[in-house]
Amino acid sequence: MTHNIVQIIDEDVKKSGGWISFDRFMELALYAPNYGYYTKNSAKIGSGLGTDFTTSPEISPYFARALWLNIEAALAPLTNKTIYEIGAGTGRLADQLIQCAGAKIDHYVIVERSAYLRQQQQETLHSLPIEWLEELPREYSGVLIGNEILDAMPVKLLVKKNQGWYERGVVASNLPNLGFQWQEVPWQGSSITELDLPEGYVTEWHLAVHEWIKKVAKGLINGSILLIDYGFPHHEYYHPQRIGGTLMCHQTHLADTNPLVDIGDKDITSHIDFSRLAQYALDQGLDLLGYTSQGHFLINSGILHMLNSATLQEKNSAYKLFLEHEMGELFKVIAFSRDPSQSLLGFSHGDRSHTL
Ligand SMILES: C[S@@+](CC[C@H](N)C(=O)[O-])C[C@H]1O[C@@H](n2cnc3c(N)ncnc32)[C@H](O)[C@@H]1O
Repeated sequence: MTHNIVQIIDEDVKKSGGWISFDRFMELALYAPNYGYYTKNSAKIGSGLGTDFTTSPEISPYFARALWLNIEAALAPLTNKTIYEIGAGTGRLADQLIQCAGAKIDHYVIVERSAYLRQQQQETLHSLPIEWLEELPREYSGVLIGNEILDAMPVKLLVKKNQGWYERGVVASNLPNLGFQWQEVPWQGSSITELDLPEGYVTEWHLAVHEWIKKVAKGLINGSILLIDYGFPHHEYYHPQRIGGTLMCHQTHLADTNPLVDIGDKDITSHIDFSRLAQYALDQGLDLLGYTSQGHFLINSGILHMLNSATLQEKNSAYKLFLEHEMGELFKVIAFSRDPSQSLLGFSHGDRSHTL
């Protein structure tokens, strides 16, 4: 009988011959049914009691208002005006976007992999016309959006040693009652970068993100994809000075770099390599509509003008979304479309597609 997340992972390690890859560990730590960080009954996202981190829609409704103008433009040429939101968290963005959209959309679909969050969203958004799915249909048309979902997908951890790459995984600790410890094995996968990186360099390989974007890009029959997350283009992501990688945990609004402690009680995330994400989407025949910072995207979309009539308090929260030292620079927006003639207001100035 399994009682907690450490036992679940321990059993998995034993079943796998004593070693599991870090992406398997992260998958269980975040999504093991009922016991993972995203699947267990606890507050996670927002600024209230017991939460661990906050996100743009939780900070200010002006995020959704600016985003909506772009979604509206992307929906305009489509006969089927459906928004697919992936990974809806508390459901706040869905609520705000439906308020902006009114009768301008036919369907709002939330694709949420956590049964616990799906149930929470259904309780808070029960009066709204939303359909919930566990998985995106194999083929779909509409506008697909996702805020901070890519960073919550499991990653492999790689370490450069003895001129070659090793995969960092997890074994049972050799100290009694101390959970898990790291162990590295030679990396069997493809080359991760052509860049010459120093010995001891630790980084991530986003296998789950790669598989997800390939599937989602391939399945898009008509419409666009808009993703917002933190990360960099390839050359910046694999910068020689980023020697410790980007893996980060979030608990009670504090960040740390050790995912092997407080398992299931904290979020584990990593930044996104937007160049590779773009490459996989383009390989499926999509066009890149743009890539820019969240700050540029929101300002291009008219957020400053929208804030003219806001209260001082509303302005102060909304500023966090686009000021460079807050979320304006680290967070990026990237969009793809099946329709090469599509263009979005958010990319009208400061498009950085050429950096990918
Ligand atoms: C960091 S939270 C972001 C929540 C929300 N989008 C926001 O901005 O507040 C990540 C969300 O993505 C969901 N998620 C992660 N991978 C997913 C996938 N492959 N399909 C659907 N949902 C996913 C998680 O369960 C969680 O709801």
